[in-house]
Amino acid sequence: MKTKILTMADMTEAARLIQAGEVVGFQTETVYGLGADARSDAAVKKIYAAKGRQADNPLIVHVASVAQAERYTENIPEEAYQLMDAFWPGPLTLILPVKKGSLSTVVTAGQDTVGIRFPRTEAAIALIRQSDCPIAAPSANTSGKPSPTKAEHVKHDLDGKIAAIIDTGQTDVGVESTVIDVSNPSNGFTILRPGGVAKEAIEKIIGPVQVSKGVKDASEIPKAPGMKYTHYSPKEPVYIVTANRLGFEGAAAEFSGKRLGLLADDDKIAAYGEQFAYHFSLGAADDVEQATQNLFAGLRYFDELDDVDVILAQAYDSRGIGLAYMNRLDKSAGGKYL
Ligand code: TXA
Ligand code: MG
Repeated sequence: MKTKILTMADMTEAARLIQAGEVVGFQTETVYGLGADARSDAAVKKIYAAKGRQADNPLIVHVASVAQAERYTENIPEEAYQLMDAFWPGPLTLILPVKKGSLSTVVTAGQDTVGIRFPRTEAAIALIRQSDCPIAAPSANTSGKPSPTKAEHVKHDLDGKIAAIIDTGQTDVGVESTVIDVSNPSNGFTILRPGGVAKEAIEKIIGPVQVSKGVKDASEIPKAPGMKYTHYSPKEPVYIVTANRLGFEGAAAEFSGKRLGLLADDDKIAAYGEQFAYHFSLGAADDVEQATQNLFAGLRYFDELDDVDVILAQAYDSRGIGLAYMNRLDKSAGGKYL
C-alpha cells in the first residue's frame, strides 16, 4: 500500500478513507494518532496489524463533543462531566462504562469500559466531524517505540502499512493524554496513566484522586535497576541522571571508554556536551514543558544512530507535567537511574 501524505486541505479525502474502513495518521495535541472507524471490527483490526499491537490492549475512542461521548458510554458520574467541562477538548481520557453494541468490541478488547477523549487540534476535530464517526486511535508508532510527535515519525514507522498521514506539524504536549478511571465512583477515581493534564489540575476540580500502583513516583528510585519491562526505548540503554546522585559528570565517568549520548536541556549541554559523542536538546534550562514536548523526538534521534553505546537522560521534578515526563522516561530506561 502506498501511504499518502495529506494536509488540512485534503480533509475530505482523509474522511473518505476513514469511511472506507482505512487507517489514517493524524495530529492530536499530545502525539500523532492512528485512526479508524471505532464501530467497525475490520477497520479497527487494521490498526492492531499496522502497529503490531497486542489484541488485549484496548484503544482510546476520540469524539468531537460531549454529546458524541454520551452515545458510546453510560452511567457517566457527575465528576466525569466536571472533568469534561474543565479539560475537553484536551489531553484527558476518561474510562467509562461502554454502551453495549455501540462500538466494535475489538476497540475495547472485550472489556465493559471504554477510554474516551475529545482532542483539541483542528486536524483531529475536522477528521472526526467529517468522517461522521467515533475514531479509535492509539499512538501512531510501532508498538514499543516512542510515540510520534511529528508526521515524519509516523512515516518512519508505518510507511506502506496505512492509507494516509495528515501532516499538520509537531504536537504541542509531546506525551499522551492522562487516562483516569471514572467508571466506578464507589471505588474513587484513579489515574491509570499520567499525561497532558496534571494530577494537581484534576484534583482542583474533583478533589483527591488515586494514582495506579503501576505508576511509580520518580522519587522512589528502584533499588534493582533494569528489572522492568521497557517501552519507548531506543536500541541503546538509557540511564536517568538525577542531580542528587552522580550528576552528569559522575555519570559520564561511570561509562568512560563508551560512546555517550546526552539528552538534556541547553544548560546541561553547554556544561557537559564535550564529554558526549552526541547530544539532543530538551529545550531551555529547567523548562519541563519543553522537555516533555521534545522527549520522544530525542529518544527517536538516538534510536537512529549506530555509534552510540549509552544514553544519559535528564531527570525532572515529578510535579505537574513532570510526572508524565518521568513516567515515560522511566519506562524508556527500564527503571535505570544513576
Ligand atoms: O494522547 C493519547 O491518549 C493518544 C492520542 C492518539 O489520543 N493515544 C494513546 O493511545 O496514547 P494508546 O493506545 O497508545 O494508549 C491508550 C492507553 C493504553 O495504556 C490502554 O491500555 C489504556 O489507554 N486504555 C484504553 N482503554 C482502556 C480501558 N477501557 N480501560 C483501561 N485502560 C484503557
Ligand atoms: Mg501508545
